[in-house]
Amino acid sequence: MESMTLLLFGATGDLAARKIFPALFRMYVNKQLPQPFSIIAVGRRKWSARQFQDHVAHALHMYGQDCTTQSQHMQPFLQMIDYFEMNLKDGRAYSELHHHVQRKEEELQISGNRLFYLSVAPEFFEGISVNLKKSGLCNSTGWKRLMIEKPFGRDLQSARELNQTLAETFLEEEIYRIDHYLGKPMVQNLESLEYANPMIQAIWNNEYIANVQITASETVGVEERAGYYDHTGAIRDMIQNHLLQLVMMTAMHLPRHMTPEEIRDEKRKVMEAIRPLRQEDVGQHVIRAQYETGYVDGQEVAAYRDEIGVAKGATTDTFVAARLFIDTPRWQGVPFYIRTGKRMKEKSTRIVVECKSPKQQDSQGDTLEPNLLVIRIFPDEGITWQVNQKSPGKDGKLEAVSLHYMPDPNKLPEAYELLLADAMKGNAAHFAHWREVELSWQWVEPIIQAFEQNAVPLHMYEAGSNGPKAADALLEQDGFQWWLDP
Ligand code: BG6
Repeated sequence: MESMTLLLFGATGDLAARKIFPALFRMYVNKQLPQPFSIIAVGRRKWSARQFQDHVAHALHMYGQDCTTQSQHMQPFLQMIDYFEMNLKDGRAYSELHHHVQRKEEELQISGNRLFYLSVAPEFFEGISVNLKKSGLCNSTGWKRLMIEKPFGRDLQSARELNQTLAETFLEEEIYRIDHYLGKPMVQNLESLEYANPMIQAIWNNEYIANVQITASETVGVEERAGYYDHTGAIRDMIQNHLLQLVMMTAMHLPRHMTPEEIRDEKRKVMEAIRPLRQEDVGQHVIRAQYETGYVDGQEVAAYRDEIGVAKGATTDTFVAARLFIDTPRWQGVPFYIRTGKRMKEKSTRIVVECKSPKQQDSQGDTLEPNLLVIRIFPDEGITWQVNQKSPGKDGKLEAVSLHYMPDPNKLPEAYELLLADAMKGNAAHFAHWREVELSWQWVEPIIQAFEQNAVPLHMYEAGSNGPKAADALLEQDGFQWWLDP
C-alpha cells in the first residue's frame, strides 16, 4: 500500500478510543498498515505526543481485543502517533497543522497522500472541510481522501448543504461516508453470497421470496446521549442510514462487475425504486414507539421519559418499524419490513429472508414451515438455512431443521478495520455514495414530518420486550410474523 498520513480529527473522543485506535492497532499487528505511515491525532486537549500515546495505550487495554497477547507491538505502534493540539474553529491553526504535516512527511518520506478522518461532532464538519482547503492541506503531490462519520445532515436540506460544502474541497470519489454497518463482515458478505451461489441468485426475486425482515434491536437505552438522541430518534439515528443501507445491500441486483462504482450504482437503483410514502400513509406503514420502564437482562430500567436529559413528556421514537416496497420487476409485491429499537429484549442485528410457503401439506396434514435464510450480523455472526426434511425419528413426518454456519468470532475483523483498510486502498464500495444518502433522507422525510406533527400514534413498549404489539400487527396484516432465530 502507498505511504500516507492519517489525520484524525476528534482523536481524543470516545469513538477514537473505542473503535478507531483498536482497529488501527490490529491492522498494525496484522501488517495491514502502509509503510511508511504516520498518524497525526488532532484534538483540543493540551497534551504532548507522549501524553496522547499513554491515552491510546490505555484505550487499547480497555477496548482492544488482543492487546495483552500483542504487547510487543504496542510501543512501535504508539511511536507512529503524533499529537497536534488545536482549536478546530481557528483558521490559522490549520496552516500550522499543514506545516507540521509537511515536516512529518519529509522526515518519514511520505509521498503526500493524506487521509483526513472526521470523528468530530457534526457542527465541525463544514468548518474543517473549508479550512482544509484554505490552509493548503489539500494541495499536496499525493492523493487526498475524506472519511466522515455520521450524522450526514439531520434532514434532506441540511444534508444537501453539508454535501455542497464538502464538494468545494473534495470530489465525490474522494469522500468516504462511513456507515459502520457497511463495515460489518456479514454485511460485506451479502454481495458475495449472491455472486458466488447460483442457488441464491435463482431465488432472489418475488417468485420465491415472500418477505424480507431486517431487525436491529438493542438492549441499551439512550445511555449518556440524551442531548443528541432526544432530537434525533430512531428514525434519524438508525433507519435513515443503517437500516436503509441493509435494504439496499440485500435487494440490489448483482452488478456486472464488482467495482465500487457498479456496486453503488446498483444500491442507488434500489433506493430510487423504494415506493415513496405520502405523509398521510405513514400511519399505515410505519410504527413509532417509545420504551417504558421494564427489565433488561434482569435489571429494572427507567422509562425513556425518565432518563436523564430527556425532555419532559418527550415523544421521541426509540423504536421504529416500517413496511416498504421496492417497485422493480424483481421485488414487486415483496414487503421488506425493517425495525429497530432501544431497550429491547436482545441485542440482535439480522436479516431474515422468508421464502414463499410450499403450500402443500405433508401426508399427515401438517403444514410445512417456510424456508428461511437468516443472515446474522450480530451477535453469533453467521448464516442459517431453515429447510424441511423427512424426519428419520418421527415416522417419516416432515420437519423443519436448521443448517448453521458460524465462523470463529475471534477471527472476524471489526467493522472499523475493514473500513479503514478500504479507505486506505481507495475502495469506496462499502461507503455511502451521496445519492444513497440523499435518497434515504428523501424517503424518511415524510415519516419525520408525521412524527414531528404527531400525526401518527406513539405506541409504548415495555423495556426488555420485543417492541410494541403494533409492530407485530404490521406483519399480521400481510399474513406474516417476525421470525426469531430458527
Ligand atoms: C449508532 C447509533 O450509529 O449505531 C447508536 O448512533 C446505536 O444509537 C449504534 O447504538 C448501533 O451500532 P451497533 O454496531 O452496536 O449495532
